[in-house]
Amino acid sequence: MELRAGAFAALLGTALVAASPLARAADLPQLGQSPLRDVIAAMTREEKVGLVMGTGMTFPGQPPDLQAPVVGATTAGVPGAAGTTLAIPRLGIPSIVVADGPAGLRIQPTRKGQDGRTYYCTAFPVATSLASSWDVDLVERVGRAMGDEVKEYGVDVLLAPALNIHRNPLGGRNFEYYSEDPLVAGRMAAAMVRGVQSQGVGTSVKHFAANNHEWNRNTIDVKVSARALREIYLRGFEIVVREAGPWTVMSSYNKVNGTYTSESPALLQGVLRDDWKFDGLVMTDWFGGKDPVAQMIAGNELLMPGTARQRRELLAALESGALKEEVLDRNVERVLALVLRTPTFHHYVHTDRPDLKAHAEEARPAAAEGMVLLRNQGALPLKAPAKVALFGNSAYATITGGTGSGDVNEAYVVSLAQGLKDAGLAVDRRLAEAYPPYIKQAEGKRPPMPMPFMLPPPIAEMAVSAEEVSRLARDADLALVSIGRNSGEFRDRTLLDDFELTAAEKALLQAVASAVHGQNKKLVVVLNVGGVIETASWRDLADAILLAWQPGQEAGHAIADVLLGRTPPSGKLATTFPVRWQDVPSSAGFPGKTLVGPDPNARGPFSGDRAAEVAYDDDIWVGYRHFATKGVTPAYPFGFGMSYAAFGYSGLTLSPPASDRSLTALVTVTNTGTVAGREVVQMYVSAPGQSMPKPALELRGFAKTRLLAPGASQVLTFTLSPRDLASFDAASSSWKVEAGTYTVKIGASSADIRQTATFTRAAESIDRSSR
Ligand code: BGC
Repeated sequence: MELRAGAFAALLGTALVAASPLARAADLPQLGQSPLRDVIAAMTREEKVGLVMGTGMTFPGQPPDLQAPVVGATTAGVPGAAGTTLAIPRLGIPSIVVADGPAGLRIQPTRKGQDGRTYYCTAFPVATSLASSWDVDLVERVGRAMGDEVKEYGVDVLLAPALNIHRNPLGGRNFEYYSEDPLVAGRMAAAMVRGVQSQGVGTSVKHFAANNHEWNRNTIDVKVSARALREIYLRGFEIVVREAGPWTVMSSYNKVNGTYTSESPALLQGVLRDDWKFDGLVMTDWFGGKDPVAQMIAGNELLMPGTARQRRELLAALESGALKEEVLDRNVERVLALVLRTPTFHHYVHTDRPDLKAHAEEARPAAAEGMVLLRNQGALPLKAPAKVALFGNSAYATITGGTGSGDVNEAYVVSLAQGLKDAGLAVDRRLAEAYPPYIKQAEGKRPPMPMPFMLPPPIAEMAVSAEEVSRLARDADLALVSIGRNSGEFRDRTLLDDFELTAAEKALLQAVASAVHGQNKKLVVVLNVGGVIETASWRDLADAILLAWQPGQEAGHAIADVLLGRTPPSGKLATTFPVRWQDVPSSAGFPGKTLVGPDPNARGPFSGDRAAEVAYDDDIWVGYRHFATKGVTPAYPFGFGMSYAAFGYSGLTLSPPASDRSLTALVTVTNTGTVAGREVVQMYVSAPGQSMPKPALELRGFAKTRLLAPGASQVLTFTLSPRDLASFDAASSSWKVEAGTYTVKIGASSADIRQTATFTRAAESIDRSSR
């Protein structure tokens, strides 16, 4: 035994020797007891370098230089977690654990040698769905439940929330992100961070920044103006950093204007720390960036998951002087500051038994609140009992969330079919018996994926014969067709057969619509999707369309709750649904262009990535900023969503009526309908636009009423600070507020403004409350 330990120590160097209890001299500084300075001074160079990178990760087909670094690879972590940091026991430094992700904790649900013991997590609705609730309190509650699972499963930092902007509908990870608008994204992310961190665990807001598509994500250079960067792509991060103080930020894979974000002092020091006063830690995305020395200098303190190459290069750079010891020490100090905050450091004894039942009870209303009623020609709410002809693969294999690191290993999924049955509706037996075996067989025929968490190709819609459709139109009380979409890391979506419906889906909708309408019955369409799809060409076939998103594990229950009006629909779109994909300005250059040949420096599991660039020529004209300003009619505008109730808006007042400081806007919302409902109210501002081009309107606030009974009213309050009026002026690198007349527009959507009021600012000013 002694011999073996000695051989290991010789192999691994100082860390193991140091970790031996014999070496723990009483006078060694200890983390948490001694000044950080002393702890760092007691560390060897190898230990310091080991601490600024994770302890590695293995995956199939791994190139040799990505193997785990040799110092201290931990086996004590949580199986299925994304990474761990180095333990240095002789200095009282434990290894901490980080794990994904945005829709719930992602860890392995079972462990070798532990028969019967499970580690399932709750699959909450995806971020796009949460954002569509426009309810920050709800998102905070979801965050609290997620944070509890993080803590009880022994994880220290959740790698979430993700808040990149929905720049284009085809972005493969849009489901993990909130919105096309930075205010919605930032506020939602801030609520999530508050919720998760209230449990005493950390978050990692990601991916900082301008990581809006998957194509060549490890090499792509995003060419973007300073104004668009600040106003659109950084603004959400600014809000979450300033409002919620995330423990960590994750830099992104891409370059911005020629520099990898993880190697960019301008972003990591200038913007994040100097301008926004971020005091946490920055980690890379997994295998992100190229040059570990540049990453250290830029202030990307933790390289994840940590590789042998990085370790070699950092040690060599310390030797040559290319990396100064002070820079390394600064980064080590920030890693230690993070460790000090964690449950692991505080010896929290986790139970491995979070209250999954209670969390499922949070997930269900959260999913329902995010659903958006896009169309309703008298078809909804449904009344039980009724017999439903239920079509669509996703009605039986309901998609809870996307794939990749945004996936969750949940214990069960309530399918739409099951949800309808549990709500007292009868689902046609023949269909219910035909779909599951069809899906199972088709799944069995799919090719294996190169990496286990990559999305396999979709299964074609099951064909249903014309006779069967006519029989169902006669027998059932209504038809319901579910259209499903999935996507995930590594790949963007496609225009054909993904954004647009497949031929089989169109044929199914047409056949069912004509059969049920021939019988004077209704067709309801449920969209079980993670992102935007084309709706304009087929929506007239449907009597109602409910955008259910990817609603998490309680999917079927939550959809039934909304269809039956047990939870009135109150979600609104946080992302525009265009008529055609080509109507979105970023589509012109999407996804970008490859430069010469494969990138010889491309490394990592994604080494197929080629040098590439994308010009963000759409500049600040993203989403409704474009549609509203250029007068392009979308299929469904930003902020749109219907209700079973109706709402009147009245009495908008601004106080004080003009001010160089903050203004308050008050508006009364009244339920003028016949059933209870909640209304999402949006405050937009139109600026004079004399010194620089301004969108026709920009979202500057939002609020959601409580559940209002028919006839009930609520006064909603919004504040408007000078910064809310400002645009980023690249020449002076400052936020400028123009002089002139501003219009406050209170609306039910970006295209449905109900109340307006104006105020004037006498002189141009620079907002000095922030840079
Ligand atoms: C993703 C991150 C994730 C990380 C760890 C990367 O591929 O881009 O969002 O947190 O993996 O799983």
